[in-house]
Amino acid sequence: MDPLMAVLCLLPLYPASHCPNPGIAVGAVRTGSRFGLGDKVSYRCSSNLVLTGSVERECQDEGVWSGMEPICRQPYSYDFPEDVAPALGTSLSHLLGTTNPTQKKKQNVGRKIQIQRSGHLNLYVLLDASQSVEEEDFEIFKKSASHLVDRIFSFEIKVSVAIITFASKPKVIMSVLDSKSKDVTEVAHSLENAHYKDHENGTGTNIYEALNSVYIMMNNQMRRLSMNTAAWQEIRHAIILLTDGKSNMGGSPKVAVDNIKEVLNINQKRKDYLDIYAIGVGNLDVDWRELNELGSKKDGERHAFILKDVEALSQVFEHMLDVSQLMDTICGVGNMSANASAQERTPWHVTIKPKSQETCRGALISDQWVLTAAHCLRNAEAHPLWRVSVGDPNSQWGKEFQVEKAVISSGFNVFAKKNQGIPEFYGDDIALLKLAQKVKMSTHARPICLPCTVGANLALRRLPGSTCRDHESELLNKRSIPAHFVALNGNKLNVNLKTGSEWTNCVKAVSQDKTTFPNLTDVREVVTDQFLCSGMQGDDNPCKGESGGAVFLERRFRFFQVGLVSWGLYNPCGSSDKNSRKIAPRGRVPPPRDFHINLFHMQPWLRQHLEGVLNFLPL
Ligand SMILES: *[C@@H]1O[C@H](CO)[C@@H](O)[C@H](O)[C@H]1NC(C)=O
Ligand SMILES: *[C@@H]1O[C@H](CO)[C@@H](O)[C@H](O)[C@H]1NC(C)=O
Ligand SMILES: *[C@@H]1O[C@H](CO)[C@@H](O)[C@H](O)[C@H]1NC(C)=O
Ligand SMILES: *[C@@H]1O[C@H](CO)[C@@H](O)[C@H](O)[C@H]1NC(C)=O
Ligand SMILES: [Mg+2]
Repeated sequence: MDPLMAVLCLLPLYPASHCPNPGIAVGAVRTGSRFGLGDKVSYRCSSNLVLTGSVERECQDEGVWSGMEPICRQPYSYDFPEDVAPALGTSLSHLLGTTNPTQKKKQNVGRKIQIQRSGHLNLYVLLDASQSVEEEDFEIFKKSASHLVDRIFSFEIKVSVAIITFASKPKVIMSVLDSKSKDVTEVAHSLENAHYKDHENGTGTNIYEALNSVYIMMNNQMRRLSMNTAAWQEIRHAIILLTDGKSNMGGSPKVAVDNIKEVLNINQKRKDYLDIYAIGVGNLDVDWRELNELGSKKDGERHAFILKDVEALSQVFEHMLDVSQLMDTICGVGNMSANASAQERTPWHVTIKPKSQETCRGALISDQWVLTAAHCLRNAEAHPLWRVSVGDPNSQWGKEFQVEKAVISSGFNVFAKKNQGIPEFYGDDIALLKLAQKVKMSTHARPICLPCTVGANLALRRLPGSTCRDHESELLNKRSIPAHFVALNGNKLNVNLKTGSEWTNCVKAVSQDKTTFPNLTDVREVVTDQFLCSGMQGDDNPCKGESGGAVFLERRFRFFQVGLVSWGLYNPCGSSDKNSRKIAPRGRVPPPRDFHINLFHMQPWLRQHLEGVLNFLPL
C-alpha cells in the first residue's frame, strides 16, 4: 500500500467524505462553507494584497483539499530565504496561524524536483530578456541559471538542460533534443553565449511563446521516443522561469501550460512529472500575481518566488531539490542550505566511542568504512567494544554501529621520537574502521569523497584518465586553501590550509612551544610533510575531541576530504560545554597551530587497506 494512504486511513478525524475546515488566511476572504466531497471554496484578498496559492480549492477523495493554501501578501516584497525556506514543501498556514491538521501528512505527495537515479530529468531554464528586465538583471538571471545548472549536474543523475531566452520571441540556446544538453560544460558554455542584445529587435514579453517553445520541444521528444515507451514516460520535467512576470503579448501563458500538461499526460497519478517554478530574482519590479499564476500549484508546495540575489536563489533552490530518493553511495553530497541540519550538511561525519564516552570523530568514506586518527584508538584488539554513531546520534536518523575490524597504521607510535627529545610524535596518525553492517544511505549518512578515487574524479567532473597528482593540484591549488572541519556541536568551522612557503611559515610556530619541545632543533622532526597546517589568523582551531574528523573542502557542490584532524598547539575547548570555544589570546606563545594528516601523503597505506572498497586512480 502507498504509505500516504496508510497514514490517511489512520486519521479518524475526517471520514473520507469530508475535508477539514481549510481555514482563512490572514487578509483573505473565503467564499464557500461546505467541506464535503466535491465542494469548492474560493478565496480573494482584501484591500491591495495579492494572493499566492490557489484561488479555488476542491475537497477531494481522502479528505484533502486540492491545490495550495492561499496567503495574502504585499505586492512587491522580497522573499528572504530565511522566511521562505521553512515554508517550502510545507504549508505556509502555520506561519499565519491557521493550521490545517492534514497538511503535514501530505508532504510526500509529488513534491519538489526529484533527484534520483531512475528515470531522467529534463530541466528547462527560461530567461526573460525583455525590455522590462534590464540588462543588469538579465545578467543576474544568467548567473542564477548557471548556478542551477551546476548544482543539478552535481548529483550525477541523468539530466538534460534546455536554455531558452525570450522577449517578443523565444530563442532556444540549448534544446533537450541536443545530446550536448546532457553535458554540463556544453550547457554552461551555451549559457555564456546567451545575450540580452539577442532580443534587441523585439523587446516585448511573450511568456506564452516561451512556454510554447518548451511544449514544442517536448512534443518533438515524445515523437522521437514514442509516446508509449518508458523512455518517454519516465522523464520528469521541471521548468524554471526567471522573469518579472510581466507578460504583454502572445496571450495567456496558461494556454501553453495546459498544452504542456496535456502532452506530458499530467493527471493525479503523474503530478510529480511536471513542476513549473516562476522566479523573479534581482532588483526587479515584479508582477507577483502573474508569477503566482505561472508557477504550478501543488498541494502544500510553493512554486513562485521573488528573490533578492543569486545567493538567495541558491538557498531556495536547495530546498526545491528532493534528494531522499538518492540511495546509492555517491560521495561528497551535502545539503548546501543554511537551514539544513548540521548532519545533513556533513552527512559523512561520525562519532567514535572506543569506551563508553565519545572521544573522537571520523568520516564515512564508503558505506562501511570510517577513516579516523590512530591516536583515538589504543588497542585494535578491543574493537568489539567500540561503537560508531552515524547520521546524527541525537535524532531518529542516528544509528550506532559495532566495529568489525580496525586497521591502525603500524607506523603510528607516539613515543617513537622520545629519545630525540620529542615527547609526542603523530606521524602516521591514521586508522580505518570497518563497521559491522553497511550504512543505509540517506540525507543524513553518506560518504565523503576521498581524492584519488574514481568517485572523486566523477565528482570533480574530470576526464577518466586523471591521476592522483591531478587531484592534488586541483584541490590544493593555492598557498592558502579554505577548508573546513566539524566541531563537537556539529557546526562546520573554517580553516585555511597552507602550502609551499606558507606551510613553512605555518609550521615554524612549533619551535616556540618550549614547554613541549624544549630541545627541538628542527621543526620538521615533529611536523613532517605528512601534515597539513592551519590555525593562523582568522582560522578556527579544532578541539581535543574533534580529532579524527575530516578536513574537507568544497568543489563543484561536492565535498572532498584532504586531511584528518590530528594534533595542535592550542585547545579552544576548555570546558565540557560543546558550544563554547575560546579564541586564543593575541600574542599567545606558542601561537595556535593545527596539524592534519595529509591524505595525499598516505596513498600507499590507503590503497593497501581499501583495495576492493574504493577504486583508486593511478598516482
Ligand atoms: C530553519 O528551520 C528551523 C526549523 O526546522 C527554524 O526554526 C529556523 O528558524 C530556520 N532557520 C532559517 C534561517 O530559516
Ligand atoms: C536587429 O535588426 C538590425 C537591423 O535590421 C540588424 O542589423 C540586427 O542584426 C538585428 N539584431 C538581432 C539580434 O537580430
Ligand atoms: C536540504 O535540507 C532541507 C531541509 O531538511 C530539505 O528540505 C531539502 O530538500 C534538502 N536539499 C538537498 C539538496 O539536500
Ligand atoms: C633537553 O636537553 C637537556 C640537556 O641536554 C636534557 O637534560 C633534557 O632531558 C632534554 N629534554 C627532553 C625533553 O628531552
Ligand atoms: Mg518584460
